[in-house]
Amino acid sequence: MAYLSSILTPRDIAISIGTSNTQVHINGHGVIFNEPTVVTIDCNGYTKKRDGHVVAVGYSAKKMLGRTPQEMYAIRPIKKSIIVDFEGTIYLIKGLIEKVFSKSFFRKPRMILTVPAGITEIESILYKNAANGAEASETYLIQEPIAMMIGLGIDAFNSTGQMIISAGGGVTNVSIVSFGKIIYNRSLRIGGEDMDEAVLSLVKDKHSLLIGENTAESVRYKLTTIVRNSDFDRVAIKGRSVFEGIPNMSYINNSEVQRVADYYLNLIIDAIRVSVESVPRELIGEVISNGIILSGGLSLMEGFKDLIELEIGIPMIFMGDFHCAALGASMVLKEPEKYEKILIL
Ligand SMILES: Nc1ncnc2c1ncn2[C@@H]1O[C@H](COP(=O)(O)OP(=O)(O)OP(=O)(O)O)[C@@H](O)[C@H]1O
Ligand SMILES: [Mg+2]
Repeated sequence: MAYLSSILTPRDIAISIGTSNTQVHINGHGVIFNEPTVVTIDCNGYTKKRDGHVVAVGYSAKKMLGRTPQEMYAIRPIKKSIIVDFEGTIYLIKGLIEKVFSKSFFRKPRMILTVPAGITEIESILYKNAANGAEASETYLIQEPIAMMIGLGIDAFNSTGQMIISAGGGVTNVSIVSFGKIIYNRSLRIGGEDMDEAVLSLVKDKHSLLIGENTAESVRYKLTTIVRNSDFDRVAIKGRSVFEGIPNMSYINNSEVQRVADYYLNLIIDAIRVSVESVPRELIGEVISNGIILSGGLSLMEGFKDLIELEIGIPMIFMGDFHCAALGASMVLKEPEKYEKILIL
């Protein structure tokens, strides 16, 4: 699995693990991994997961979800931004290290992980222990919105009233950062994957078809758009009939999927509105003049930024690429002493 094996000797690695996707940044090389948060392990004939070794991470592991032979597990260890499978998280991190670094130069790397802003102490300890379990020599944790600011080149220590929204696969998070600290955080446990699950249920109930998560996601991409797009009024869906169990197909309309998406979009807008209303009076001017940073995969939905701007009435700074958190974390790992105050645990 060695990846950049000829050029990288392990020293420092920054990892940003999300519910849906994970990024790895190496100083001097940039983001060298941006793939689904899935790991597949082979248990070598044993039935316990802890006796396994990693066979795939990222896209190749995602392809194996639900299709692994016995004694292999394809695992999604993070749900709603939180570790739900501790061993799986260790394997994921091990798999990333193996993928990125050459075995022949193997030294235990120093590691920094981004963690969600609203995380509890126990949840952060889990992240730290998972990194240690994957044999990091030293582990640092940094909250994602702060890492993102640093990655964007904003002076996290000296800026005030920076609001950051991240709409991802499992969670929509709104934070306000002031002088390097998160002074407000609201986590709504809603993301793109909830929309996919709702599409899956809709297709099962209304079209009597069983489809997989990937199909549901691609139907959602094609049919949900905030700016109406007449190119795709309906799409054909292939699945397995609920009744006969045989392959079958149906057509699903734009309006059906849009209704599902709108329900979740309204919840997201409400959470942002409540967050803006909670901004302390002294900071609101700065929040408005700084603009709100908008990130996360769901914000790529066509028209998402415009809709939020319209509803909230504050300009959004749209971040088309989502590497900033991993980049910012990497920058911190270069000089941890400088950033000591914002590292957690
Ligand atoms: N063009 C697009 N249109 C709509 N949704 C999209 C688009 N691109 C990505 N997404 C959605 O974004 C989500 C993934 O976003 P992201 O990678 O930011 O999540 P994550 O960081 O892994 O999760 P979280 O932050 O919730 O833990 C998925 O649900 C995906 O379907
Ligand atoms: Mg995320």
